[in-house]
Amino acid sequence: MSVAPASAASRSTAEPLLALRAVTLRFGGVTALDGVDLEVAPGELHAVIGPNGAGKTSIFNCINGVYRPQEGELRLDGQDLRGLRPARIARLGVARTFQNLGLFTALSVVDNLMLGRHHLMRTGFLTGALWVGRARREELEHREAVERIVELLELEAHRHRPAGLLPYGLQKRLELGRALAMEPKLLLLDEPVAGMNLEETEDMARYLLEIRRELDLAMLLVEHEMHLVMDLADRVTALDFGRRIATGTPAEIQADPRVIEAYLGAAA
Ligand SMILES: Nc1ncnc2c1ncn2[C@@H]1O[C@H](COP(=O)(O)OP(=O)(O)OP(=O)(O)O)[C@@H](O)[C@H]1O
Ligand SMILES: [Mg+2]
Repeated sequence: MSVAPASAASRSTAEPLLALRAVTLRFGGVTALDGVDLEVAPGELHAVIGPNGAGKTSIFNCINGVYRPQEGELRLDGQDLRGLRPARIARLGVARTFQNLGLFTALSVVDNLMLGRHHLMRTGFLTGALWVGRARREELEHREAVERIVELLELEAHRHRPAGLLPYGLQKRLELGRALAMEPKLLLLDEPVAGMNLEETEDMARYLLEIRRELDLAMLLVEHEMHLVMDLADRVTALDFGRRIATGTPAEIQADPRVIEAYLGAAA
């Protein structure tokens, strides 16, 4: 599909796509993140795990500019993200899904996906009036890109249904589709299978694998469902009380005594 492939140059360098260095975020007396380092390579699926309140969602909110960490560095493709607004960071190629659904429930599946492409649309209302031909061509391109996502996530039968009427598992899949419609370099997934039954969870795992095969993007995955994390992730970072306690392959993390003590022991 046409979702922007990473350039050969960005693939061949050792530079991470995303780099957090010593990021500290405080809310009054609460230290949500305490000197966190995190690197995501181009094309990598990197999972972030840890107990409730460990700071996982806060990391996402720092990366996409919703929270401003008091200390540390955040870079995407070498570019400093500090001080940039969320809309600007989205345009740089960071898309996210939410721990709680963030869909337009009255709009159809296709319209929700089109909204994901909003920031890619060059032809606004006025230029559209002046350049009808170009606006039509652009609209066609967007519709084609949306259709490829409909196909990839097997949403064909639901195309024209209002998002709010879809079963929960399909709403989560549509939210994933809307994030993909932005053609991101980095996709932030916050608990994509929370609240799903086993069948829906297995479907989601299959779509995430499919996305990895078909699209050239990196993913940062926050998830409590450990089978999913250990099956899909290239690397895992474990947090506890806002601190990074370990980063490694799924096998290394599962064997790490600090991770077992802080999290896996209780989750197993
Ligand atoms: N906007 C906020 N105002 C005040 N405190 C906050 C805010 N956002 C997060 N926190 C605090 O920061 C800490 C980390 O929260 P965060 O939501 O990042 O955890 P989490 O790892 O995503 O947890 P969960 O697994 O429950 O989703 C918690 O102590 C939380 O109460
Ligand atoms: Mg969270």
